[in-house]
Amino acid sequence: MGRPSFAFAFAALLAAVEAQTYRRLGACPSLGCVLPPDQSDFLPGQDFDLRLEVHAPVNGSEAFNEGVPDEDFLVTITKEGGEAQNLADFFSIDEPEVEKWDFQWYEDLFAEDAGTPSVVNVASKIYRRLAIYEPGNYVIELSYYGDQKTTANWVVRPLATEKKAKNVILFIGDGMTTNMITAARLLGHHSINGKYQSLLQMDQFPVLGHQMTHSLDSFMTDSANSASALYSGHKSTVNALGVYVDSSPDPFDDPKVETIVEVLKRTWKSAWGAVSTAAISDATPIALTGHSRSRYQFGPLVDQALNSFTNYTWTNQGGPDVWFGGGAEQFYPGDESYKGKDYYAAFAEAGYDITLNRTSLLELGNSSRALGIFCQSHLPVWLDRNVFTENLEAFQNDPQGGDGPALDLPGLKDMTLKAIDILHKRGGDEGFFLMSEGASIDKQMHALDYDRALGDLLELDDTVRATVAHLKELGELENTLVLVTADHGHGFDVFGGVDTAYLSAGKTDREKRRAVGTYEKSGLSQYTVAPPEGVAYNTGPNFPLNWSPRYTLAQGFSANPDRRENYKVHKSPRRVVSNTPGFGSHEYFVDADDSPDGFVINGTLPVSDSSGVHSMTDVAVFAMGPCQETFGGVYGNIDLFYKMANCLGLGQPTDKAKEAPKYPAGVPAYPPPKGVHPLSP
Ligand SMILES: *[C@@H]1O[C@H](CO)[C@@H](O)[C@H](O)[C@H]1NC(C)=O
Ligand SMILES: *[C@@H]1O[C@H](CO)[C@@H](O)[C@H](O)[C@H]1NC(C)=O
Ligand SMILES: *[C@@H]1O[C@H](CO)[C@@H](O)[C@H](O)[C@H]1NC(C)=O
Ligand SMILES: *[C@@H]1O[C@H](CO)[C@@H](O)[C@H](O)[C@H]1NC(C)=O
Ligand SMILES: *[C@@H]1O[C@H](CO)[C@@H](O)[C@H](O)[C@H]1NC(C)=O
Ligand SMILES: [Zn+2]
Repeated sequence: MGRPSFAFAFAALLAAVEAQTYRRLGACPSLGCVLPPDQSDFLPGQDFDLRLEVHAPVNGSEAFNEGVPDEDFLVTITKEGGEAQNLADFFSIDEPEVEKWDFQWYEDLFAEDAGTPSVVNVASKIYRRLAIYEPGNYVIELSYYGDQKTTANWVVRPLATEKKAKNVILFIGDGMTTNMITAARLLGHHSINGKYQSLLQMDQFPVLGHQMTHSLDSFMTDSANSASALYSGHKSTVNALGVYVDSSPDPFDDPKVETIVEVLKRTWKSAWGAVSTAAISDATPIALTGHSRSRYQFGPLVDQALNSFTNYTWTNQGGPDVWFGGGAEQFYPGDESYKGKDYYAAFAEAGYDITLNRTSLLELGNSSRALGIFCQSHLPVWLDRNVFTENLEAFQNDPQGGDGPALDLPGLKDMTLKAIDILHKRGGDEGFFLMSEGASIDKQMHALDYDRALGDLLELDDTVRATVAHLKELGELENTLVLVTADHGHGFDVFGGVDTAYLSAGKTDREKRRAVGTYEKSGLSQYTVAPPEGVAYNTGPNFPLNWSPRYTLAQGFSANPDRRENYKVHKSPRRVVSNTPGFGSHEYFVDADDSPDGFVINGTLPVSDSSGVHSMTDVAVFAMGPCQETFGGVYGNIDLFYKMANCLGLGQPTDKAKEAPKYPAGVPAYPPPKGVHPLSP
């Protein structure tokens, strides 16, 4: 095997460091990869897989060893203060077989335009279902090509073994920032001379923290890996759930990490549930059980939630106790369900009560496990369910797969309160974990539909308020840690008021812009002033009294496609951009029918982007209940997991976990899905 000269290796390293937005493999700057990588943290006893890869780039700036990867690499693990041990010996498992594959990547935009990917040959091993029980610092060292080394420093955190909270309810406002909370408060709550007469429920939480949302290998995150960070204490890559992303072609063989609900089922046997206004297969809810580098494998991810990952690596935790949301297309038999199977029937066979509308949701008993899927795709937003209800008729989202609309729809509050009753009953003394997501704060911010986004934020807050009251009724408030946070933000803010009448009447874009009132001309919120009878949309306490006042908010986005703004509520869902005939199929322009009386604001994103994108802001964490004091300050998104785990006493390594069966050799990888789900760029 050829040995690199020192200068050559140094040049390769430099090139790798320079390659910023396109990388051979995130978390692997050298030619040897250890996943979980350097700086990983673990819960004592948490299940994980360890993947090693040795890369031999065939061409491109890193070409090495004529494209022949070292297959005789060695790996050791050293506990701080101890001796290095061979990894398989340390974990008392057999040495796995070497796997081989190749992959391609682009080094930069020039290479992508020229269609010249760099090719890499790979030799790899994966060690399945490992766990480290003793807290402390560990060093993993991979040696390859004779003299090259990759080290990973790991910390198994010392955590409490005593439970302080019986229950945890984690509310996630997807994409929800402090700026949005501020705007929603102005819409839903009345103030006199600058002083609010009522507050959001989250405003009344005793402790506020901030979490940093960066991904493992990019500073911008999506909802998949950010949810996994919150649920597993491990960061990952955009689009990945419950795994570190390896370079193999199979989206299901990546090294997995155990999530909080999997740990809870294995240890305390608590009940758990997920509620979302998104499809239940969407990133935030599915990251509790999903293990794939692609969040778009919707059908298989639903199967994983019921049957656990291929039924062999992880404890079969037997599915959620409660699962409420949208996404019917993964449940009725058809192209979008895993292997075309009927998952309503599969869940019913597993003992679930199935509910497909609000009426039957409210009639559910509290004893059985429950699956509630109320429509195809995401639930229509609060504004359409409560104000512009005529829009519901236009949906073709029947939960049984028909062409008609789903009209008997629950809201986040209905689903969350019912979930609490069932989880309270089923969890008994072992308590429960519930994740409840206001999903369309994010989805409507992507569409730059501020009113629909803020309406769903107010719905989330209304749900938190009702939850606190309900926990009190159940005598569980003191036993329950309630958290309200987000997974990432959007660059949204309010910068003034708008006279929409003057804006509409303006003849040119420059004239229309005079309608924007800044500073003293912003005026006062008109959303909480009741309109004359029958004139506008009165939605009562905690929501605006008037959704379409003449004076609205001047608001906007730091990351947007070209758009036109009239700053009025959109009675039909917003459509910001469209393809213009004669241009490329992914070149977007301002939609001619969106806000025709508005003025044009040219975008800041590539012209191939049809909607707004996430921003980098830290997001708030509101905490109330046992351990609330540990949630103040600024910390990483993974720390939220360790704080919850500490409060739940999950530092306890159980004998049961130690006895759990190891990964048997020769089990086939998870079968690829039948449906085609394109990866996002
Ligand atoms: C590497 O080799 C592949 C296959 O021959 C080729 O398609 C690609 O353009 C090459 N890339 C570079 C950067 O030379
Ligand atoms: C897991 O096991 C269940 C029950 O035996 C089976 O129906 C299901 O197809 C299995 N899932 C996979 C992905 O093999
Ligand atoms: C709601 O679901 C129940 C039980 O599945 C069903 O009997 C009823 O017809 C449904 N109602 C509507 C309005 O679809
Ligand atoms: C479910 O639990 C709630 C709260 O304890 C209770 O009010 C309701 O009556 C229960 N429902 C049934 C069907 O037992
Ligand atoms: C927006 O961009 C277009 C060119 O793409 C330009 O013609 C137009 O003047 C710009 N509008 C504004 C308001 O800047
Ligand atoms: Zn998003």
